[in-house]
Order: sequence, then structure tokens, then C-alpha cells
Amino acid sequence: MATLLHIDSSVSPHGASVSRFVTETFRKVWEEQHPDGTVVYRDLAACPVPHFTADSCAAEPTHGRSHTPEQSFAATIRRRLIEELEDADAILIGAPMHNYTIPSTLKAWIDNVVLFGRTVGEGSMITGTPTTVVTSRGLSYAPGTPDEGHEYVQNYLDVILGHAMRLDVGFIVPEFTYAPHDPAVAALLPLFEWSRDRATKEAEARAKTAGGRSTADA
Ligand SMILES: Cc1cc2nc3c(=O)[nH]c(=O)nc-3n(C[C@H](O)[C@H](O)[C@H](O)COP(=O)(O)O)c2cc1C
Repeated sequence: MATLLHIDSSVSPHGASVSRFVTETFRKVWEEQHPDGTVVYRDLAACPVPHFTADSCAAEPTHGRSHTPEQSFAATIRRRLIEELEDADAILIGAPMHNYTIPSTLKAWIDNVVLFGRTVGEGSMITGTPTTVVTSRGLSYAPGTPDEGHEYVQNYLDVILGHAMRLDVGFIVPEFTYAPHDPAVAALLPLFEWSRDRATKEAEARAKTAGGRSTADA
């Protein structure tokens, strides 16, 4: 039976969030493809995971010490989040741009799940898991645009998820999401609508092929 790990991090609710709209589109198609599948959902805006602290660091199994209650708590959270990753046949992440990079809630999740010998490095069980990242943004940072060099979402996630964690990462990028709300950029509305429609189609297409390990299970 296939499992999808679905993570959202938009601070806007359903109906107002573009990344949630696109991840929901993906999820619906994925559920159609995997009627017996399981979706594990984390809304990091509604239920943030704790920031990485000294306790989280000391709780790493490699340290081999006895743990304080705080370290045990941190270790339990990390273990649970890592197991969710290891159990996933496909991963879906909503990662809107916040101040040129990812939301701090998503960074906290990443800091908790990155663990050498488990999710990074030789022997990692998550290598090659198909991963779709929906990274909405108010403007555009596409190659050739004036702000191209200020893109620290896709660049960063490609390194940490793709290079370090060796997930099979693909990005869906709805742009110009300020256009419906900000009169100063209202002229960009057609570009926003085009980008949102393209993102929706990409989500549908990726969901149909994001079976990963589940394909063998089916
Ligand atoms: C705190 C915050 C910071 C933002 N910073 C940027 C930014 O640096 N560049 C940008 O293009 N859009 C920025 N935005 C706009 C969001 O990326 C945009 O509204 C996007 O659609 C958010 O995703 P969502 O619709 O799923 O909530 C920011 C939004 C918030 C709330």
C-alpha cells in the first residue's frame, strides 16, 4: 500500500493559499491513483514542529549518552518525523517563498529530519523517493528576470533535498501571486493566471507518476 507524505507550510488558509491549492490538486489525483493509499499530512503553519535546539543535537543516536527528559522529547519528535519520511513512497511539500527563502516552519522540519546515517549519507532509506515541491511566490525569480539572483527557495531545497538527502526532487512554481491582491502589480494578473493553470496541470501530471516504491507494491 502506497503512502504519500504531504506537508504544507503556507500561513494562508485553504481558499487563499496558492501552494495549498496546488498541493491539494496533486493529492486528489494521487489518491485517485492509489485508492488504498495512505496520506500522512502535516500542516506546519497550524502545527509547527519545534526548532532544532541543543537538546535536539544531543539527542542524536550517535552521541550514545543517556538523555535528559528534554533530550528524550526532542529525540522522539525527530524519530517520528524521520520515520514519516522513511515510510513515504512519495513526498509533497508546499513551500511558499518568505523573504526570498522558505518559511521558518519548513526550515525547522528540515533541521529535525536531516540526520547523517539515516536521511543523509550511505544506507539512507529515502534515496530516490519522488518528491514534488510547490513553491509559490508573489513575483517571479525565473531565469532572465531582474530578481533571478534572489531566489533562495528552489536553490536551497534542491541542495538539501536533492543533493544531501538524495530525494528525486521536482519543482512546481506558481508565480506572480501578488497580482490578484496588489493593485500595483494588477497588470500581471494574466501571467498569474497562466502560471497557476500551468502549476495545476503539472501537479496533476506529477501525481500520476509519483508512485515511487508504491508502483512495485501495487
Ligand atoms: C512573510 C512573507 C514574506 C514574503 N516574501 C516574499 C518574497 O520575498 N518574494 C516574493 O515574491 N513573495 C513573497 N511573499 C509572497 C508569497 O510568496 C506569496 O503570497 C505566495 O503566494 C505565498 O504562498 P501561498 O499563496 O501558498 O500562501 C511573502 C509572503 C509572506 C507572507
